[in-house]
Amino acid sequence: MEPHRVFEPAIHYWGTPVVLLSTRNEDGSTNLAPMSSIWWLGWSAMLGLDATSKTVENLRRDRECVINLCDAGCADAVNLLARTTGSDPVPLHKRALGYTHVSDKLGHAGLTALPALDVAPPRIEECPVHLEAVVQAVRPVGRDDPRMAVPACSVEVHLVRAHVRPELLASCDRVNAEAWSPLLMSFRSLFTLGALAVPQSRLAHGSEARYAPWKSGLVRRTAAALLGRVAEHRYGVPDEREEP
Ligand SMILES: Cc1cc2nc3c(=O)[nH]c(=O)nc-3n(C[C@H](O)[C@H](O)[C@H](O)COP(=O)(O)O)c2cc1C
Repeated sequence: MEPHRVFEPAIHYWGTPVVLLSTRNEDGSTNLAPMSSIWWLGWSAMLGLDATSKTVENLRRDRECVINLCDAGCADAVNLLARTTGSDPVPLHKRALGYTHVSDKLGHAGLTALPALDVAPPRIEECPVHLEAVVQAVRPVGRDDPRMAVPACSVEVHLVRAHVRPELLASCDRVNAEAWSPLLMSFRSLFTLGALAVPQSRLAHGSEARYAPWKSGLVRRTAAALLGRVAEHRYGVPDEREEP
């Protein structure tokens, strides 16, 4: 085997799920943006965004969104929304990349709005999963990094409500991981999750209920809350950007 090479890609884009983020514009209309720098931790999620996007403007003002997860059936809509922005005028670096302003993103992509339950931006019917979310914190990312070409930020959100197409469920609150096939973006190409290459996941052993102590009876719930408080006291990390 040849030894590894040191290399310098334009961007580290190793593969993450594609979502359509719906937010509300200042006039109450909907903005919809494809993005894929996203990961989840429990009922929180972290979004990585170009700070010049209309989405960030809306999230900072309204503090809410719906994360609409895509499968392969959404690929055409994602491509129709690619290189568009709700910002008018279009930011200079986006103009250079061939972006155009689109005010009606749903109409442009032929998508259908459904009302959300806890937030104002709509869910997108064509997407198989909808996660309603509220913004916890917006922080700059890569501010002093000369390789970061545009101002960027992370948006930490708390999920308040989840909707899923029933055919993706194994039981009432459990996703059938084999039925769920996210649309993924890796180095600007779109993929879907293929057949499982690795037959066994050690992490998948045991009941998923162990990860949801808030759903257990009073004794377990109290014990879990107590353990959580002890763990927070012992391991909780300070926000390094906050003043001491
Ligand atoms: C598949 C796909 C994934 C994308 N992922 C991201 C992303 O993770 N972060 C980001 O800032 N922009 C991402 N973009 C680009 C945004 O869609 C783009 O910035 C867009 O103009 C945002 O729309 P807005 O300005 O109306 O908010 C992605 C685009 C596509 C098509």
